Amino acid sequence: MFLVTGATGGIGRRIVRQLRERDMLVRAFVRLTSRYSELEHREAEIFIGDLRREQDIQKACRGVKYIISAHGSDSDALALDYRANIELIDQAKAVGVQHFVFNSVLGADRGYEDAPVFKAKRAVEKYLQASGLNYTILRPSGLASNLLPLAERFRQTGIYLLIGDPKNRTSIVSTDDLARIAIDSITVSGARNQILPVGGPEILLREDIPRIFGRIFNQEPTIVNPPLFVVDGVRSAVGLLNSQAQKALGTFRTLLGNEFFCTRAEIEQLESIFNLKLETLESFLRRYLAV
Ligand SMILES: NC(=O)c1ccc[n+]([C@@H]2O[C@H](COP(=O)([O-])OP(=O)(O)OC[C@H]3O[C@@H](n4cnc5c(N)ncnc54)[C@H](OP(=O)(O)O)[C@@H]3O)[C@@H](O)[C@H]2O)c1
Repeated sequence: MFLVTGATGGIGRRIVRQLRERDMLVRAFVRLTSRYSELEHREAEIFIGDLRREQDIQKACRGVKYIISAHGSDSDALALDYRANIELIDQAKAVGVQHFVFNSVLGADRGYEDAPVFKAKRAVEKYLQASGLNYTILRPSGLASNLLPLAERFRQTGIYLLIGDPKNRTSIVSTDDLARIAIDSITVSGARNQILPVGGPEILLREDIPRIFGRIFNQEPTIVNPPLFVVDGVRSAVGLLNSQAQKALGTFRTLLGNEFFCTRAEIEQLESIFNLKLETLESFLRRYLAV
């Protein structure tokens, strides 16, 4: 039995889909408010709970052999990116889980002081490495599935909002490839007890994304490009009202202000470990947008 957290999210949903396509038993950790009917139709076992509650995590872990942590944090990095993963790891040890796959983030080890999600991910990575469990830590760059709503908006307006440096490099990974990598990490020996950066096959500039949208929809993009200090202004204003939200915006600013890409050598290593050819961003978008 697999336990997948974040089972209704971009990565988690695809992990559950692919596990069920392989006829594997999977328990999907979802919230009552989540959109989980697709997972039910695929005959995943639905576990309704909240990752903020230790008791829910304890119950969800009963009888599981593998755990894939793929949940996000709703801007509460301490409760969800940190505490919930620490509890999952403790429970994994208690019930004798055979392999734990953790979705971290590219750049978790760069010491971004202002980004709670990155700090929580790094702390969990270290805890998992010291746990004695078999593990794989995946550090994805941006996910292609995140761009689908932006592409839909572009289809209607032709406008793309690009905050910060358009020349910053990124390697967006197909979320389907990432789901496959997460699942195969359990069986592929080259992934055991490894930290693996995960990106797409190309190093893109951020300004390439609206160009790809433009090609897909046969429409010249209008790029709106405010400088990064606009985000700093918004953060300061938000901070006057809500310091928690201001801290959460620190992660957002870190994502916008830095480069997140995998080197060619890292991508070659990934393709070789998992024996797969990574999909380009354009191919992913065309499949989902049906163009
Ligand atoms: N997105 C990226 O570009 C990116 C890049 C690198 C790493 N990552 C990491 O990959 C992981 C997944 O990212 P994603 O983009 O797939 O996330 P996502 O689409 O935002 O999904 C987040 C998932 O977490 C669940 N969740 C949030 N709070 C919860 C709670 N209190 N209890 C139970 N479930 C809860 C959500 O459930 P609901 O459906 O109920 O909201 C949803 O299923 C995250 O850890 C993220 O840090 C993401």
